[in-house]
Amino acid sequence: MNSKTAAPPASQHTMRVHRLLLEWFATHKRDMPWRRTRDPFAILVSEFMLQQTQVARVTPKYEVFMTRFPTIEALAAASVSEVLKAWSGLGYNMRSIRLHRVAQEVVKSFGGTIPSAPDDLRKLPGIGAYSAAAVACFAFAAQMPTIDVNVRRVVGRVLFGIESPSVKEMDQAATDLLPTGKARDWNLALMDLGATVCTAKRPHCFECPLRDGCVAAPEFESPLRQVAESTVTYKAKQPFRESNRYYRGRIVEALRHVPDDGVPLARLGPTVKDGFKNRDLPWLKKLVDGLAKDGLVFVIESGNDPASEGDITVSLPGG
Ligand code: ADE
Repeated sequence: MNSKTAAPPASQHTMRVHRLLLEWFATHKRDMPWRRTRDPFAILVSEFMLQQTQVARVTPKYEVFMTRFPTIEALAAASVSEVLKAWSGLGYNMRSIRLHRVAQEVVKSFGGTIPSAPDDLRKLPGIGAYSAAAVACFAFAAQMPTIDVNVRRVVGRVLFGIESPSVKEMDQAATDLLPTGKARDWNLALMDLGATVCTAKRPHCFECPLRDGCVAAPEFESPLRQVAESTVTYKAKQPFRESNRYYRGRIVEALRHVPDDGVPLARLGPTVKDGFKNRDLPWLKKLVDGLAKDGLVFVIESGNDPASEGDITVSLPGG
């Protein structure tokens, strides 16, 4: 590296932050099955599963999935329906479709070898900056930060306080903070600190190894902030059980348990929604059409009347 591009030497504060967090990680790291392997396929699967689902929920599903599809070739050769069935219980089913497409693309374009370069990984469906960095770092030892919302929160609090700057500035700060040659432990340490100590709602600053050098810790501990916190009112959100995402998940789950040739729309209705009536058919049809567009279900319309929901059969996709 020439002197113009070399990273500046870490400051005393940065070196202290590195030492304290890495020492904490040595004794507090969480054990997870995908952390015991360097197999890029296993790591890719785990990162897709962890995108929106908690570690405790992912762990048993990951084990079953890896037994069912031990290699990228096995996953690529499976049908969409088989993959969706193996994804049961994880939610956000679109992730399984994208993972399946990644497997097919890697087999087709890279001979089954998952690329190690983040730029190549990012060209695959459903792989964004975070997942590309995670696979590159955890499978191929790339020295790069894995920056997700949790890592941004931790780094933001330590360096800038409760009010952090823009995402762009935060990402630059997280990149600059990476200790030389220790990306894997560092990234995992930030994740573990964010999940167990520097949590989103109420951080446990008294247990934090970085408390002394953290800009946010005194702000969290300020009596003024504690009064403000106790009077915060949270905006009411639409209950999850009334959301489209909830019913989309229910439809796919119901289809996991019907024969491969599917089920008539009218019979699907009552398994998806309590008190389902015929007048709910257009609503159900719309949801099913949305799922079909995303490749999650297969719809056959056998009648002559396109406005009639009576002749529609829905199944998981075959190929
Ligand atoms: N270990 C490796 N990747 C992880 C992730 N995305 N979340 C939690 N722990 C991990």
